Order: sequence, then structure tokens, then C-alpha cells
Amino acid sequence: MTPLITLKDIGRKYVIGTEIIHALKSVTLTINKGEFVALMGPSGSGKSTLMNILGCLDTPSKGEYILNGINVSHMTDNELAEVRNTEIGFVFQTFNLLPRNTALDNVALPLVYAGINKETRKARAKVSLENVGLGNRMDHKPNELSGGQRQRVAVARALINNPSIILADEPTGNLDTKTSIEIMGLVEDIHAKGNTIILVTHEEDIALHAHRIVRMRDGLVENDYANTNIQTVDRHSIPAV
Ligand SMILES: Nc1ncnc2c1ncn2[C@@H]1O[C@H](COP(=O)(O)OP(=O)(O)OP(=O)(O)O)[C@@H](O)[C@H]1O
Ligand SMILES: [Mg+2]
Repeated sequence: MTPLITLKDIGRKYVIGTEIIHALKSVTLTINKGEFVALMGPSGSGKSTLMNILGCLDTPSKGEYILNGINVSHMTDNELAEVRNTEIGFVFQTFNLLPRNTALDNVALPLVYAGINKETRKARAKVSLENVGLGNRMDHKPNELSGGQRQRVAVARALINNPSIILADEPTGNLDTKTSIEIMGLVEDIHAKGNTIILVTHEEDIALHAHRIVRMRDGLVENDYANTNIQTVDRHSIPAV
């Protein structure tokens, strides 16, 4: 089987004035289709830098990144945008929803970039929102939704293109414990459907939902192991929407 993600000796340095920051020194990693990986490590260890490269928002200073059989390490911005639109779904800590747009329009947005007509966009966004339990909140704007509902809108948006990978950078970082559990239940459902998930978290109990844990330190992978203590969300604890 070809891995979905192959990273070979990936480095990323930032130059600020005379200072060079090696945010990633050398990362070599293989992730197969359908894996659920938690990326952990102290602040500044390079997690977001790595996620940006995985998500084709940034390119490495050195090394090779093969995504779904395609070498994306040296692509132009336009080529990367194309890969992003077809292969990647993002979920961020701060939700990153457009405040003036309804939930439906926020979810439909990636399809605008994909050049899909309005009617199809609306129909697909509706299904995607229904899949995260928000069929009754489609016309609400972000400030008319709870934190957990906003994050579910972001998840629906991430899923709308049927991406190969879902990248979530601290998706529960701004949520209370109960709402975090609800979002992790949703992430588990998405994983169960065969999606590949890479999730950054600082919280050990959130990481235990993943099947593999990769720990970073100082721009290097310090540890990479299978989670033998997988926790799943107790569905009885999730309130009905
Ligand atoms: N755009 C940038 N320019 C310069 N340095 C940067 C930039 N982005 C990140 N860095 C530096 O690279 C290193 C890794 O940062 P990164 O954001 O990847 O850490 P992180 O593991 O995501 O941390 P956190 O847990 O706090 O989110 C840090 O030392 C940071 O200061
Ligand atoms: Mg970060």
C-alpha cells in the first residue's frame, strides 16, 4: 500500500534579521490512509509549522513531501492551492468562520473555489451540516451559535470536498470539557468513515482518542507510537442537538 503522507527529512527554517530559527530540523514520517494521529509536544516544538506543511499552506526549506503519490515539496502557490482544495480539510482552534455569513454559506465556501455551481453548493453544504447534527442551524451566523456548534460548522466545511486528510490544529482548544467531548465524538465518527485525521492537542486525554501519538520536541519527532489505551466518547454523555 502506498502511504497517504510520506515526509523525508523535512526542515523548515525562518530567517528573522540575522537570526535563523529552525522550527523543523528533520522530520521523517509516514502516515497511511485511515490513520488517526495525535500530534503533541511543548509550545514552540514545531507542531503548527508541520501542520502548515502537511496542509500545503507552506513549503519546507528542505526535504520531500509526497502526498497521495504526488511530490508537493516544490510546488508553486497556485499548484499548492489546487492540492489544498482537493485533498485537505482544515479545522482550527479559532474556528475561522466568516462572521457575516450563515452556517450554510460558510460550509459551502470551499466549493466556490472549486468552481461548483450555486445550487449544488447549497445542496452539498446542507448535507454536510446535517451530517454534523446542525440541519436546524443552517441560517444562523457564527455569533448565533454556541462554541461547539461553531466548531461543528468548521468540521462540516472541512469535510465538504471529501478531502483525503482532515488536519485539526487544537480543535478543542477554545472549548469547555463537555463541548470538547462532543467534538471528539464527531471526529471519531469521521475517522470511522475511513477518513485520515491528524490532530494537534496539548491535552493528554484528547490525544488518547487517537490511535497513534507523535510527540515533537525542538523541531524533531521525539516519539512515535501506537496508542494502546484508546478512549472513545461515551455516546450517552452527548446531549441531543
Ligand atoms: N512565521 C514565523 N516566523 C518566524 N518564526 C516562526 C514563525 N512561525 C513559527 N515560528 C517559530 O517556529 C517555532 C515553532 O513554532 P510552531 O508554531 O510550529 O510551534 P507549535 O508547536 O505549534 O507551538 P504551540 O503549541 O505554542 O502552538 C517557534 O520557535 C516559533 O517561534
Ligand atoms: Mg501551534
